[in-house]
Amino acid sequence: MKKIGVALLGLGTVGGGTYRILKNNHDSIMKNDGIDIEIRHIIERDKEKAVALGADLSIVSTDINDVVNDKDTHIVAEFFGGIEPAKSFLTKCLLAGKSIVTANKEMFSKSWVELEAAAKKGHAGLYFEASCVGGVPIIRTLTESMQGNVIQSLMGIVNGTTNFILSKMADEGKEYGDVLKEAQRLGYAEANPTADVDGFDSMYKLSILSSLAFRKKVPISQIHREGISGVDKADIEYGKQLGYTLKLLAIAKNRDGKIEARVHPAFVPSDHPIAGVKGSFNAVHIVGDNVGDIMLYGRGAGDLPTGSAIVSDIVFAACQSKPKYAPFKNVDNVSTKDFTDNYLCRYYLRMTVADQSGVMAKITSAFGKNNISIASMKQMPSAGENATLIFLLHQTYEKDLNRALEALKKLDCVNSVNAVIRVEE
Ligand code: HSE
Repeated sequence: MKKIGVALLGLGTVGGGTYRILKNNHDSIMKNDGIDIEIRHIIERDKEKAVALGADLSIVSTDINDVVNDKDTHIVAEFFGGIEPAKSFLTKCLLAGKSIVTANKEMFSKSWVELEAAAKKGHAGLYFEASCVGGVPIIRTLTESMQGNVIQSLMGIVNGTTNFILSKMADEGKEYGDVLKEAQRLGYAEANPTADVDGFDSMYKLSILSSLAFRKKVPISQIHREGISGVDKADIEYGKQLGYTLKLLAIAKNRDGKIEARVHPAFVPSDHPIAGVKGSFNAVHIVGDNVGDIMLYGRGAGDLPTGSAIVSDIVFAACQSKPKYAPFKNVDNVSTKDFTDNYLCRYYLRMTVADQSGVMAKITSAFGKNNISIASMKQMPSAGENATLIFLLHQTYEKDLNRALEALKKLDCVNSVNAVIRVEE
């Protein structure tokens, strides 16, 4: 029987969930995988957390050297979050030959290159299934199950907080600010919600997922990011009438050898499987050239779902004869020529215009001059002297759209462009 010593860095929500799964599933892992896992160290300041879990206090300390110097600790699972001290502690562990398992998407997406170099130096492994989409086995799917494909695109709801907020706005017709407060009260959103609502969390995850999907490092600097705080419930409602559902999407495509990677609110057809992902659930839709469409769905956060991914990585790491690294050249100096920001997609536009003759001709002329074709147009019932216009545009390049928007803003008859939302089919 292979004996594996494990250290847990932090005993917060996910650390606690991992502790419970390792204890409860100890015998089944031994029986099914032939591995006897012993938790040898817990690095945690708050001893009460260890007491609450029934952990042996003699293994709880605040000194990372207890882990680094223990030759019988083979795998270190990190739950601190943030960059430091997580990065320094994990680097020390890797250099000491201990494989690491992490859920820390921010640190991992920003420091993957350095951590991998330390791992290679220490002949240790680097495992991060829990860093993206919590309990959903998306990393292993991308690295171990897609070899027969060139992945063409990946599109996901990878943040539960924002999906909870947008689902509630759609289902209950509420304003963003009211739903955010409710989400904070229910514990779905943090007191400082920026990482979630401004799209940072999704961006970190997309950097990891798209790098694996396209076998090429996609740094966060190459990812376009918009959050949901500017979303108006009016657009969710108009979108619904047109057959669309609004989601915060993480999107990566490989188009003509160029990668585009972006995080922003987008409409998807209401009968697309992604549109049916509600509340705090996550899902990732992948298109491979041979397999076609795949969608993985599940809980992207929480003690036991994320703990499930951590434990699967611990067992996976313990079963490897040689550590695994990124399936691509993981270097800092990626070529910007491999990426494009001239996205090609459909658009939804809402604008407020003067309700007068000749206005539509001026607007459609601005579109026409910029190679943009209109798919449909709707004028909402007039409010006084102004009218609300909704346009759905055929596929257009982002640069053409931006030129058209500049031209529209210069027209006296256009009071404001209230919403510009990409549409993914
Ligand atoms: N805060 C994230 C979410 C989970 O709302 O999905 C951790 O990445």
